[in-house]
Amino acid sequence: MTTIIKGGTVVSTTGADRAEVLVDGEIIVALLLPGSDTAEAAERGAEQVIDATGKYVIPGGVDVHTHMELPFAGTNASDDFETGTRAAAWGGTTTIIDFASQQAGENVRTCFDDRMALAEGNCAIDYGFHMIIGGVDESSLKEMDILVNEGVTSFKLFMAYPGVYLSDDAQILRAMQQSAGNGGMIMMHAENGIAIDLLAAQAVERGETAPINHGLVRRAELESEATHRAIQLAKVGASPLYIVHLSASEALEQVAIARGKGGNVFAETCPQYLYLTLEDHLGAPGFAGAGYVCSTPLRSKHEHHQADLWNGLRTNDLSVVSTDHCPFCMKDQKELGIDDFRAIPNGIGGVEHRMDLIYQGVVQGEITLPRWVELCATTPARMFGMYPQKGILAPGSDADIVLYDPNATWRISVDNHHMNMDYSAYEGFELNGHVDTVMARGKVIIEKGEYLGSKGDGKYQPRGLSSYLI
Ligand code: URP
Ligand code: ZN
Ligand code: ZN
Repeated sequence: MTTIIKGGTVVSTTGADRAEVLVDGEIIVALLLPGSDTAEAAERGAEQVIDATGKYVIPGGVDVHTHMELPFAGTNASDDFETGTRAAAWGGTTTIIDFASQQAGENVRTCFDDRMALAEGNCAIDYGFHMIIGGVDESSLKEMDILVNEGVTSFKLFMAYPGVYLSDDAQILRAMQQSAGNGGMIMMHAENGIAIDLLAAQAVERGETAPINHGLVRRAELESEATHRAIQLAKVGASPLYIVHLSASEALEQVAIARGKGGNVFAETCPQYLYLTLEDHLGAPGFAGAGYVCSTPLRSKHEHHQADLWNGLRTNDLSVVSTDHCPFCMKDQKELGIDDFRAIPNGIGGVEHRMDLIYQGVVQGEITLPRWVELCATTPARMFGMYPQKGILAPGSDADIVLYDPNATWRISVDNHHMNMDYSAYEGFELNGHVDTVMARGKVIIEKGEYLGSKGDGKYQPRGLSSYLI
């Protein structure tokens, strides 16, 4: 099937220009000058013409941090690969990178294979995996090398969650040395989990059990300290480092200092840290704040975290916006921590709303239109070895294409989202701009408010090394 997308404005990291996009099967074959002889000939020969008049035509979003069905605190994240990837598609994301996870004593290969089996045949959009190494030992280190050769080129380590995922400094350094050898990217959950657990226990002893205490004990200093430590360890280990879900100004400062000196230090933030706050959301009356328990936590509106994060997105100290999509329903899931915030499963769902929420940054003048595409599609693909197959509209790239209507206005609600959650963290947010049409590897899967895809459309994508390593 050949398709021509005409009349739209194609947005890339370098600008926004009128162009027509010619697709053959699953691949983009040309970008054509509107009105040119070639464009007119292509339109005459195309089997399908999509009118993009008044729309931006952008590469499909690439969300490099999701957790479908993640087991956490005795329950599982409420979106499985089918519901979560379908919701992502509704929001203009056509590729995710999720996580397989191993804990101490478990075999990395078995954990990876189990995760692959959960996703296989169920995804609406393309997907890849990072590997969480929760137990650094000789066997898992060897498996890291094997996985890199098989297209799993990034490994998440944790400085938080003692007894579950936490690696000590020696383990972290050892894994970094391994990735220095195999070219893999170390992703770091940078919070000092040992200090946090002490503060959390002390808070509970004082009777401070409400959700807001989750944020109060996970202090910005403890994110900053861990970020600094991770950066220094990566320097010693000569390994690339990517800080995940960065939320505090103080942690961003550490990344900025490191990047100012050169080297392979990168960081992402997530929409929740740009729009939600400790007081208004995590501190919502009653138990409602549980819906906003995530780690790193939401930060105080009385400090300047959000302004600093937007600034980091402009300066490229923050290179990527991912969601850390990890939804739990209030009922039966977040409720597990009704008497003790430590038992609330950590995570917020947002895979469906990342493109729209970050587009508000364009509307509000925080970032430019090309930067939106760069943060949400192009750099994520480059960072994690999927470029130029993903993240760009160019001849030879996968035809993952979103038509985005900048004139649409709408309101986020649990009543109109497609994630498997019984609340929306962004309930009532009034937005400008909306996803109109989504094509994933040449197949139109969202059009005129309808989902036209099916589970299994999405295929596993082995990845190369990061394009950014120097
Ligand atoms: O609260 C969060 N972020 N939940 C998901 C697990 C993680 O640490 O990314
Ligand atoms: Zn994390
Ligand atoms: Zn995460």
